[in-house]
Amino acid sequence: MDTSRRRHRVDHGRATDAVGRNPSPGNPISLPAGDAEGEIRGAGRWPLVSDMVRVRVPAKVNLHLRVGARRRDGFHDLVTVYLAVDLFDELIALAADDFAMSIEGEGAGSLPADPNNLAWQAASLLATHAGVPPAARLTIRKGIPVAGGLAGGSADAAAALVACAELWRIGASRSELAAIAAQLGSDVPFALTGGCAVGTGRGELLSPAMTSGEFHLVLAFADHGIATPEAYRILDRMRGDIAPTLDLNGSRVVLDALRHNDVPQLAAALVNDLQRPALSLSPGLQRTLSAGRELGALAAMVSGSGPTCLFLVDSATGATRLAAALAAEGVCRRTRVVKGPVPGARLVR
Ligand code: C5P
Repeated sequence: MDTSRRRHRVDHGRATDAVGRNPSPGNPISLPAGDAEGEIRGAGRWPLVSDMVRVRVPAKVNLHLRVGARRRDGFHDLVTVYLAVDLFDELIALAADDFAMSIEGEGAGSLPADPNNLAWQAASLLATHAGVPPAARLTIRKGIPVAGGLAGGSADAAAALVACAELWRIGASRSELAAIAAQLGSDVPFALTGGCAVGTGRGELLSPAMTSGEFHLVLAFADHGIATPEAYRILDRMRGDIAPTLDLNGSRVVLDALRHNDVPQLAAALVNDLQRPALSLSPGLQRTLSAGRELGALAAMVSGSGPTCLFLVDSATGATRLAAALAAEGVCRRTRVVKGPVPGARLVR
Protein backbone atom coordinates (compact mmCIF):
# COMPACT_ATOMS: atom_id res chain seq x y z
CA MET A 1 0.00 0.00 0.00
CA ASP A 2 1.26 3.48 -0.81
CA THR A 3 1.26 5.21 2.56
CA SER A 4 2.80 8.42 1.23
CA ARG A 5 -0.43 9.38 -0.50
CA ARG A 6 -3.75 10.05 1.23
CA ARG A 7 -6.96 10.82 -0.57
CA HIS A 8 -10.36 11.81 0.66
CA ARG A 9 -13.33 12.94 -1.31
CA VAL A 10 -16.79 14.33 -0.57
CA ASP A 11 -19.72 15.90 -2.37
CA HIS A 12 -20.39 19.66 -2.09
CA GLY A 13 -22.75 19.56 0.83
CA ARG A 14 -20.57 17.47 3.08
CA ALA A 15 -17.45 19.43 2.22
CA THR A 16 -18.83 22.58 3.76
CA ASP A 17 -20.98 21.12 6.51
CA ALA A 18 -18.21 19.02 7.93
CA VAL A 19 -15.97 21.97 8.61
CA GLY A 20 -16.43 23.31 12.08
CA ARG A 21 -15.21 26.84 11.38
CA ASN A 22 -17.69 27.79 8.68
CA PRO A 23 -19.40 31.10 9.21
CA SER A 24 -22.99 30.99 10.35
CA PRO A 25 -25.42 33.70 11.44
CA GLY A 26 -23.88 33.43 14.90
CA ASN A 27 -20.33 33.36 13.58
CA PRO A 28 -20.10 35.76 10.67
CA ILE A 29 -16.89 36.47 8.81
CA SER A 30 -16.23 40.17 8.88
CA LEU A 31 -13.88 41.36 6.18
CA PRO A 32 -12.16 44.70 5.92
CA ALA A 33 -12.52 46.61 2.67
CA GLY A 34 -10.06 45.48 -0.01
CA ASP A 35 -6.84 47.41 -0.36
CA ALA A 36 -4.93 48.52 -3.40
CA GLU A 37 -1.98 46.26 -2.64
CA GLY A 38 -1.61 42.96 -4.52
CA GLU A 39 -5.12 41.98 -5.58
CA ILE A 40 -5.41 38.32 -6.39
CA ARG A 41 -7.61 38.26 -9.45
CA GLY A 42 -7.88 35.41 -11.85
CA ALA A 43 -9.89 36.38 -14.88
CA GLY A 44 -9.17 40.07 -14.32
CA ARG A 45 -5.41 39.88 -14.60
CA TRP A 46 -4.75 36.91 -16.85
CA PRO A 47 -7.03 36.49 -19.82
CA LEU A 48 -6.36 32.74 -20.02
CA VAL A 49 -7.70 31.29 -16.78
CA SER A 50 -6.44 27.79 -16.27
CA ASP A 51 -8.26 24.75 -14.90
CA MET A 52 -5.10 24.03 -12.93
CA VAL A 53 -3.45 26.33 -10.43
CA ARG A 54 -0.14 25.71 -8.71
CA VAL A 55 0.94 27.57 -5.57
CA ARG A 56 4.26 27.45 -3.74
CA VAL A 57 4.36 28.38 -0.08
CA PRO A 58 7.35 28.68 2.28
CA ALA A 59 8.13 27.42 5.76
CA LYS A 60 8.76 29.97 8.51
CA VAL A 61 11.18 30.23 11.38
CA ASN A 62 10.83 32.54 14.39
CA LEU A 63 14.05 34.49 15.01
CA HIS A 64 12.51 36.03 18.11
CA LEU A 65 9.63 34.37 19.96
CA ARG A 66 8.51 35.74 23.29
CA VAL A 67 5.39 34.20 24.79
CA GLY A 68 3.24 36.14 27.25
CA ALA A 69 0.38 35.06 29.43
CA ARG A 70 -2.27 32.56 28.42
CA ARG A 71 -5.39 34.43 27.33
CA ARG A 72 -9.02 33.64 28.04
CA ASP A 73 -9.40 32.13 24.55
CA GLY A 74 -6.62 29.63 25.32
CA PHE A 75 -4.05 31.29 23.05
CA HIS A 76 -0.98 33.16 24.28
CA ASP A 77 0.00 36.70 23.47
CA LEU A 78 3.17 36.76 21.43
CA VAL A 79 5.81 39.08 20.15
CA THR A 80 7.62 37.30 17.37
CA VAL A 81 9.81 38.00 14.36
CA TYR A 82 8.97 35.68 11.48
CA LEU A 83 11.30 34.89 8.59
CA ALA A 84 10.07 32.92 5.56
CA VAL A 85 12.71 30.55 4.18
CA ASP A 86 13.11 28.71 0.88
CA LEU A 87 11.75 25.36 1.99
CA PHE A 88 8.40 24.89 0.27
CA ASP A 89 5.16 22.97 0.12
CA GLU A 90 3.32 22.99 -3.18
CA LEU A 91 -0.44 22.89 -3.64
CA ILE A 92 -2.12 22.08 -6.95
CA ALA A 93 -5.80 22.90 -7.40
CA LEU A 94 -7.74 21.39 -10.30
CA ALA A 95 -11.21 22.38 -11.43
CA ALA A 96 -13.70 19.67 -10.46
CA ASP A 97 -17.39 19.02 -9.83
CA ASP A 98 -16.84 18.03 -6.22
CA PHE A 99 -14.20 18.49 -3.51
CA ALA A 100 -11.30 16.11 -2.91
CA MET A 101 -7.91 16.32 -1.32
CA SER A 102 -4.77 14.22 -1.52
CA ILE A 103 -1.39 14.62 0.14
CA GLU A 104 1.95 13.43 -1.18
CA GLY A 105 5.51 13.45 0.07
CA GLU A 106 7.31 13.02 3.34
CA GLY A 107 4.99 12.58 6.31
CA ALA A 108 1.85 12.57 4.12
CA GLY A 109 0.62 9.37 5.75
CA SER A 110 0.35 11.10 9.14
CA LEU A 111 -1.84 13.94 7.86
CA PRO A 112 -5.63 13.96 7.50
CA ALA A 113 -6.83 14.49 3.92
CA ASP A 114 -10.28 15.39 5.22
CA PRO A 115 -12.09 18.29 6.96
CA ASN A 116 -9.57 18.15 9.81
CA ASN A 117 -6.90 19.43 7.44
CA LEU A 118 -6.42 23.19 7.72
CA ALA A 119 -6.08 23.52 3.93
CA TRP A 120 -9.49 21.85 3.51
CA GLN A 121 -10.94 24.29 6.05
CA ALA A 122 -9.31 27.19 4.20
CA ALA A 123 -10.93 26.20 0.89
CA SER A 124 -14.28 25.72 2.58
CA LEU A 125 -14.16 29.05 4.40
CA LEU A 126 -13.17 30.91 1.22
CA ALA A 127 -16.00 29.24 -0.75
CA THR A 128 -18.53 30.27 1.89
CA HIS A 129 -17.18 33.80 1.96
CA ALA A 130 -17.34 34.11 -1.82
CA GLY A 131 -20.65 32.27 -2.18
CA VAL A 132 -19.27 29.68 -4.59
CA PRO A 133 -19.44 25.88 -4.36
CA PRO A 134 -16.27 24.41 -2.81
CA ALA A 135 -15.43 22.40 -5.90
CA ALA A 136 -11.78 21.53 -6.48
CA ARG A 137 -9.23 18.73 -6.36
CA LEU A 138 -6.41 19.81 -4.09
CA THR A 139 -3.10 17.99 -4.05
CA ILE A 140 -0.57 18.99 -1.41
CA ARG A 141 3.07 18.08 -2.00
CA LYS A 142 4.88 18.21 1.33
CA GLY A 143 8.41 19.57 1.40
CA ILE A 144 8.04 21.09 4.89
CA PRO A 145 8.33 18.47 7.65
CA VAL A 146 5.08 17.67 9.48
CA ALA A 147 4.83 18.89 13.12
CA GLY A 148 8.33 20.34 12.81
CA GLY A 149 7.82 23.84 14.23
CA LEU A 150 7.99 25.32 10.71
CA ALA A 151 4.25 26.05 10.24
CA GLY A 152 3.76 23.55 7.41
CA GLY A 153 0.02 23.12 8.11
CA SER A 154 -0.48 26.89 8.15
CA ALA A 155 1.48 27.13 4.90
CA ASP A 156 -0.88 24.66 3.22
CA ALA A 157 -3.90 26.65 4.41
CA ALA A 158 -2.44 29.85 2.96
CA ALA A 159 -1.67 28.02 -0.30
CA ALA A 160 -5.25 26.73 -0.47
CA LEU A 161 -6.60 30.29 -0.09
CA VAL A 162 -4.42 31.65 -2.90
CA ALA A 163 -5.03 28.65 -5.20
CA CYS A 164 -8.80 28.51 -4.74
CA ALA A 165 -9.18 32.30 -5.04
CA GLU A 166 -7.50 31.96 -8.44
CA LEU A 167 -9.27 28.77 -9.54
CA TRP A 168 -12.70 30.09 -8.57
CA ARG A 169 -11.92 33.52 -10.07
CA ILE A 170 -12.72 35.32 -6.84
CA GLY A 171 -11.53 38.91 -6.86
CA ALA A 172 -10.16 38.82 -3.33
CA SER A 173 -7.65 41.37 -2.12
CA ARG A 174 -4.66 40.36 -0.03
CA SER A 175 -6.28 41.91 3.05
CA GLU A 176 -9.50 39.94 2.51
CA LEU A 177 -7.50 36.73 2.29
CA ALA A 178 -5.51 37.79 5.37
CA ALA A 179 -8.75 38.22 7.34
CA ILE A 180 -9.83 34.68 6.42
CA ALA A 181 -6.30 33.42 7.15
CA ALA A 182 -6.40 34.85 10.68
CA GLN A 183 -9.51 32.80 11.44
CA LEU A 184 -7.75 29.60 10.41
CA GLY A 185 -4.60 29.80 12.55
CA SER A 186 -2.07 32.13 14.14
CA ASP A 187 0.65 31.53 11.52
CA VAL A 188 -1.58 31.48 8.41
CA PRO A 189 -1.47 35.28 7.74
CA PHE A 190 2.33 35.19 7.75
CA ALA A 191 2.40 32.23 5.35
CA LEU A 192 0.39 34.42 2.96
CA THR A 193 2.68 37.43 3.14
CA GLY A 194 6.07 35.78 3.76
CA GLY A 195 9.21 37.91 3.83
CA CYS A 196 10.04 39.07 7.31
CA ALA A 197 7.51 40.47 9.76
CA VAL A 198 6.80 41.21 13.39
CA GLY A 199 3.83 39.24 14.68
CA THR A 200 1.78 40.31 17.71
CA GLY A 201 -1.59 39.28 19.14
CA ARG A 202 -1.51 35.50 18.93
CA GLY A 203 0.91 35.89 15.98
CA GLU A 204 -1.69 36.89 13.38
CA LEU A 205 -1.23 40.69 13.56
CA LEU A 206 1.65 41.48 11.23
CA SER A 207 3.80 44.44 10.45
CA PRO A 208 6.50 44.07 7.80
CA ALA A 209 10.12 44.15 8.94
CA MET A 210 12.95 45.56 6.83
CA THR A 211 15.84 43.33 5.92
CA SER A 212 18.93 43.80 3.82
CA GLY A 213 20.43 40.90 1.93
CA GLU A 214 19.89 37.25 2.70
CA PHE A 215 20.26 35.25 5.89
CA HIS A 216 21.63 31.72 5.75
CA LEU A 217 20.46 28.95 8.02
CA VAL A 218 20.80 25.21 8.39
CA LEU A 219 17.76 23.27 9.56
CA ALA A 220 18.11 19.94 11.33
CA PHE A 221 14.95 17.81 11.13
CA ALA A 222 14.10 15.30 13.86
CA ASP A 223 12.64 11.82 13.45
CA HIS A 224 9.53 12.75 15.45
CA GLY A 225 7.13 15.69 15.77
CA ILE A 226 6.02 17.96 18.62
CA ALA A 227 2.39 19.06 18.86
CA THR A 228 2.33 22.85 19.26
CA PRO A 229 -0.43 22.90 21.95
CA GLU A 230 1.68 20.50 24.01
CA ALA A 231 4.70 22.84 23.92
CA TYR A 232 2.53 25.76 25.11
CA ARG A 233 1.00 23.60 27.85
CA ILE A 234 4.43 22.63 29.17
CA LEU A 235 5.52 26.28 29.09
CA ASP A 236 2.51 27.25 31.23
CA ARG A 237 3.31 24.45 33.66
CA MET A 238 6.97 25.52 33.89
CA ARG A 239 6.06 29.14 34.51
CA GLY A 240 3.22 28.67 36.97
CA ASP A 241 1.44 31.98 37.38
CA ILE A 242 4.39 34.07 36.27
CA ALA A 243 4.39 35.12 32.63
CA PRO A 244 6.55 37.95 31.32
CA THR A 245 4.98 41.22 30.23
CA LEU A 246 5.63 41.56 26.53
CA ASP A 247 6.79 44.66 24.78
CA LEU A 248 8.13 45.38 21.33
CA ASN A 249 11.44 46.66 22.70
CA GLY A 250 12.64 43.10 23.12
CA SER A 251 12.58 42.55 19.36
CA ARG A 252 14.49 45.77 18.54
CA VAL A 253 17.96 44.21 18.49
CA VAL A 254 16.85 41.45 16.14
CA LEU A 255 15.08 43.94 13.86
CA ASP A 256 18.14 46.19 13.83
CA ALA A 257 20.39 43.24 12.92
CA LEU A 258 18.02 42.22 10.12
CA ARG A 259 17.94 45.76 8.75
CA HIS A 260 21.74 45.98 8.64
CA ASN A 261 22.49 42.38 7.70
CA ASP A 262 24.49 42.13 10.92
CA VAL A 263 24.68 38.36 11.33
CA PRO A 264 26.78 38.29 14.56
CA GLN A 265 24.32 40.71 16.20
CA LEU A 266 21.41 38.59 15.01
CA ALA A 267 23.13 35.47 16.37
CA ALA A 268 23.48 37.05 19.82
CA ALA A 269 19.86 38.16 19.89
CA LEU A 270 17.99 34.98 18.84
CA VAL A 271 15.45 33.94 21.48
CA ASN A 272 12.67 31.37 21.70
CA ASP A 273 10.51 30.95 24.81
CA LEU A 274 9.26 27.61 23.46
CA GLN A 275 12.76 26.14 23.43
CA ARG A 276 12.65 25.05 27.07
CA PRO A 277 9.37 23.14 26.67
CA ALA A 278 10.63 21.62 23.40
CA LEU A 279 13.80 20.42 25.14
CA SER A 280 11.83 18.95 28.01
CA LEU A 281 9.66 17.04 25.49
CA SER A 282 12.69 16.05 23.37
CA PRO A 283 15.84 16.10 25.53
CA GLY A 284 17.88 14.69 22.62
CA LEU A 285 17.63 18.05 20.85
CA GLN A 286 20.20 19.42 23.30
CA ARG A 287 22.79 17.21 21.60
CA THR A 288 21.78 18.51 18.17
CA LEU A 289 22.09 22.14 19.32
CA SER A 290 25.47 21.56 20.99
CA ALA A 291 26.83 19.74 17.92
CA GLY A 292 25.85 22.68 15.69
CA ARG A 293 27.57 25.18 17.99
CA GLU A 294 30.72 23.06 18.16
CA LEU A 295 30.74 22.76 14.37
CA GLY A 296 30.81 26.54 13.98
CA ALA A 297 27.21 27.79 13.88
CA LEU A 298 27.00 31.40 15.09
CA ALA A 299 23.80 30.50 16.95
CA ALA A 300 21.69 27.40 17.52
CA MET A 301 18.05 27.39 18.55
CA VAL A 302 14.88 25.30 18.38
CA SER A 303 12.51 26.53 15.65
CA GLY A 304 9.08 27.53 17.03
CA SER A 305 7.64 24.68 19.09
CA GLY A 306 10.26 22.28 17.65
CA PRO A 307 11.62 19.73 17.15
CA THR A 308 13.40 21.25 14.11
CA CYS A 309 16.61 23.02 15.17
CA LEU A 310 17.95 26.04 13.32
CA PHE A 311 21.56 27.16 13.01
CA LEU A 312 22.59 30.61 11.86
CA VAL A 313 25.69 30.90 9.67
CA ASP A 314 27.23 33.82 7.78
CA SER A 315 27.38 32.47 4.22
CA ALA A 316 25.92 29.96 1.78
CA THR A 317 29.21 28.04 1.77
CA GLY A 318 29.25 27.97 5.56
CA ALA A 319 25.71 26.60 5.51
CA THR A 320 26.58 23.78 3.10
CA ARG A 321 29.61 22.85 5.18
CA LEU A 322 27.68 22.87 8.47
CA ALA A 323 24.76 20.88 7.00
CA ALA A 324 27.15 18.13 5.85
CA ALA A 325 29.05 18.08 9.15
CA LEU A 326 25.85 17.91 11.23
CA ALA A 327 24.47 15.10 9.09
CA ALA A 328 27.74 13.19 9.57
CA GLU A 329 27.44 13.55 13.38
CA GLY A 330 24.17 11.60 13.28
CA VAL A 331 22.42 14.04 15.61
CA CYS A 332 19.33 14.49 13.44
CA ARG A 333 17.29 12.73 10.75
CA ARG A 334 18.30 15.08 7.97
CA THR A 335 19.71 18.55 7.39
CA ARG A 336 18.71 21.22 4.92
CA VAL A 337 20.33 24.50 3.91
CA VAL A 338 17.85 27.39 3.65
CA LYS A 339 17.87 31.14 3.20
CA GLY A 340 15.41 33.94 3.72
CA PRO A 341 13.51 36.11 3.34
CA VAL A 342 11.38 34.69 0.52
CA PRO A 343 7.82 35.71 -0.48
CA GLY A 344 4.75 33.98 0.94
CA ALA A 345 2.18 31.84 -0.91
CA ARG A 346 2.45 32.63 -4.63
CA LEU A 347 1.08 31.29 -7.91
CA VAL A 348 3.61 29.37 -9.95
CA ARG A 349 3.15 29.77 -13.68
O1 C5P B 1 -3.18 29.09 15.87
P1 C5P B 1 -2.84 27.65 15.75
O2 C5P B 1 -4.04 26.81 15.42
O3 C5P B 1 -1.68 27.37 14.86
O4 C5P B 1 -2.38 27.20 17.19
C1 C5P B 1 -2.23 25.84 17.56
C2 C5P B 1 -2.23 25.75 19.06
O5 C5P B 1 -1.05 26.35 19.59
C3 C5P B 1 -3.38 26.47 19.73
O6 C5P B 1 -4.50 25.63 19.83
C4 C5P B 1 -2.79 26.79 21.09
O7 C5P B 1 -2.82 25.65 21.92
C5 C5P B 1 -1.34 27.07 20.78
N1 C5P B 1 -1.07 28.50 20.58
C6 C5P B 1 -1.11 29.34 21.67
N2 C5P B 1 -0.85 30.68 21.50
C7 C5P B 1 -0.54 31.16 20.27
C8 C5P B 1 -0.49 30.31 19.15
C9 C5P B 1 -0.76 28.97 19.34
O8 C5P B 1 -1.37 28.92 22.80
N3 C5P B 1 -0.28 32.45 20.14
